[in-house]
Amino acid sequence: MNAKNLIDLPELSREELDELIKLAGAIMKNPTNYIDNCHGKIMASLFYEPSTRTQMSFQTAMIRLGGSTIGFDNPVNSSVSKGESLKDTVRVISNYTDVIVIRNPYEGSAFAASMFSRVPVINAGDGGHLHPTQTLTDLVTLWYEKGRLDNLTIGLCGDIKNGRTVHSLIKSLSKYEGNKFVIISTPQLQAPQYIIDVLEANGCEYSFSTNLEIRMPELDVLYMTRIQRERFASQEEYEKQKGIYVLDLHKLKNAKKELKILHPLPRVDEIAIEVDDDPRAKYFEQTEYGMYARMALIEGMLKNREKTMPKTIQSTHNEKCHNPRCITSVESYLPNLFTRGGNGRLICSYCEHELKK
Ligand code: CP
Repeated sequence: MNAKNLIDLPELSREELDELIKLAGAIMKNPTNYIDNCHGKIMASLFYEPSTRTQMSFQTAMIRLGGSTIGFDNPVNSSVSKGESLKDTVRVISNYTDVIVIRNPYEGSAFAASMFSRVPVINAGDGGHLHPTQTLTDLVTLWYEKGRLDNLTIGLCGDIKNGRTVHSLIKSLSKYEGNKFVIISTPQLQAPQYIIDVLEANGCEYSFSTNLEIRMPELDVLYMTRIQRERFASQEEYEKQKGIYVLDLHKLKNAKKELKILHPLPRVDEIAIEVDDDPRAKYFEQTEYGMYARMALIEGMLKNREKTMPKTIQSTHNEKCHNPRCITSVESYLPNLFTRGGNGRLICSYCEHELKK
């Protein structure tokens, strides 16, 4: 793999992505062939936010490749609680290890971490922004369960505003031919503009709906998501949105027999337990595909990799990002980095939000 870091899945070429999916399948078939591939290597998992699947599947992936793991699952137990910056934490841990996996509640945090690391950085979720290894998991699941990643009608239902997994998934699947997207949410939890821009830029057919049941018959894939309580400004705002979309057997009555139901998990109440036994439900299988996907990713990222010294990056502009959830709002030493969007406005390189005038 050419990419040094994995911050966002489009950093990988289609060939690299296809190779990873194939490698995940090969590992799945013969895991014992890979038990020594990361012998002597160490992975750091820095989880500033709770996680079950991502953290533990990365840890088991590294152990199954013969490597070891260190890290924290709560920054309170590290020197972060004494006020250490992200920069210093990452710089130090990259002296000890061969790869860093990071989850942090601020958007653009993994990108910021990669600027100070001597070793590859993998984004395990940066706030409500991106979650590329969940998407790799989803692509591996779809490939082995559906047999293709193109010409699919994909329904995405729930919290499309804050659900980082759907942002990464749309970014990736919009690159494959003939995919159509049905975005099912309340108007309040609609996709952010930068995701709509991705659909437009890739010439994808997409539509919006507030009604899951009506759109069900046309779907090849239904990707359910949790309403992300932790991203709401108040409990009151969350209460207004929760429980609106619940997938149950009644709603599946008119769904295709070949439909695949995915969910990144954790689930709260958006899929009734009765759906778990429906053969179209693939979300528990999805978690196992995720472990093989992460084994393939670690293997690909660590192959023939030397440690390199990080280079200092200078600000491109004087302006500061206005997004309060951007990592630059809390780590003030970070350079101001922007690119120009199609409309000429400045786009923050960390969180992808347009700079407000
Ligand atoms: N899908 C996912 O990211 O799950 P965790 O939050 O448990 O890691």
